[in-house]
Amino acid sequence: MTHALGLAQGVVGLFAGRVLEPLLVNVPELFGSTLAAHRRLQRLPYSAGGIRMGRDDNHALLQMFFAAHLSQAVGQVAELGVADLIGEDGTRPVSDLASETSCHERTLYRVMRYLASHGIFVEQDDRAFGHTSLSKALRSGAEDSFRPVARMLQMVSRGLAGFAHTLKTEESALAHVFGEPMFEYLSKHPDAAAMFDAAMPAFHVGEIDAMLDAYDFSDIATLADIGGGSGAVITGVLQRHSEMRGVLFDLGHVIGRAQENLARDGVAHRCRTVEGSFFDTVPDGAEAYLMRHIIHDWSDTDSIRILENCRKAVPPGGRLLIVETVVPGGNDPSPAKEMDVMMLLYPGGMERTETEYRELVAAAGFEVAGVTPTASMVSVIESRPV
Ligand SMILES: C[S@@+](CC[C@H](N)C(=O)[O-])C[C@H]1O[C@@H](n2cnc3c(N)ncnc32)[C@H](O)[C@@H]1O
Repeated sequence: MTHALGLAQGVVGLFAGRVLEPLLVNVPELFGSTLAAHRRLQRLPYSAGGIRMGRDDNHALLQMFFAAHLSQAVGQVAELGVADLIGEDGTRPVSDLASETSCHERTLYRVMRYLASHGIFVEQDDRAFGHTSLSKALRSGAEDSFRPVARMLQMVSRGLAGFAHTLKTEESALAHVFGEPMFEYLSKHPDAAAMFDAAMPAFHVGEIDAMLDAYDFSDIATLADIGGGSGAVITGVLQRHSEMRGVLFDLGHVIGRAQENLARDGVAHRCRTVEGSFFDTVPDGAEAYLMRHIIHDWSDTDSIRILENCRKAVPPGGRLLIVETVVPGGNDPSPAKEMDVMMLLYPGGMERTETEYRELVAAAGFEVAGVTPTASMVSVIESRPV
């Protein structure tokens, strides 16, 4: 169980603390102080009704371990599609839910009762369950549905069994358990890859608008999105800047799905797609290159290789925009610290401090020109070729 702690804390921050939205759009308020974190813990299991288990410190530690069960319960019901079966505003008896999901009825009831005690679903009369705002967000058709995120986190959480290995080696726990690195695994498992791509926009909801509000893209004629995944980022930028052209670069198995998204969102005619690996090359033809949540997936050595390929593509006077969380100093909670452990365990990467980013880009022939915080958890780290 100790293996689950890192994820459990992160996921419980998302679910039980009812904080997904503030996490993404109001970082200072949520993570401003250890007191806030302590208050967050008070809202977790076994504080309801003033009933506590043991003295305060034991109680807080116990809650952290219980959080592992909570995140798994959310992931399991998301996988089963229980929120979809309840409908938009409906109520369904657990007997129906169990038969339609091939679950053991009393067991599903106990798990649903547990989730309802955390505000995910609500138990009505006769062992029937309806929605709360949190369970509605798990519906496939919800705006920015959290279901793909929950399914993706559930999938990668199998890697938590490798946490001890990671601590000894700094190697990805997921790679240790799955037998291959995360992105290789995804390239061989199309269903998992589609789930991963679908999860990214909802996981990072709010970041694109926050980035566009904080950083001035207006003088960029062509922007290349390197490792652009589903295309959500380049689409958001092109929709805000109607004269701009885009390049979307990612692995071949990702680009097909991205092209459908670009067409659906009305920007395909302004966005060229290029397949390839950023370890081999990065397409030229743009004056600005953007990477959101790419560098944090990789070790320093791998990141420098990617950055060196970007350096070859960025023209004189051009720029590189790294969009990532920046790890603050001190002991206060931060989304960057939550994400850092997730990166450590799954892709085998890391979130970095501003100093670490300055050193990293310098090793590939760039210089940081500015770091622009946004209203979400990411900052825009602008680098220029030297
Ligand atoms: C964490 S996702 C971020 C996706 C997108 N930038 C976003 O913010 O939504 C990482 C992306 O890197 C891509 N990727 C992984 N290895 C790659 C490689 N060798 N070359 C190009 N893209 C790669 C993945 O396919 C995935 O789309």
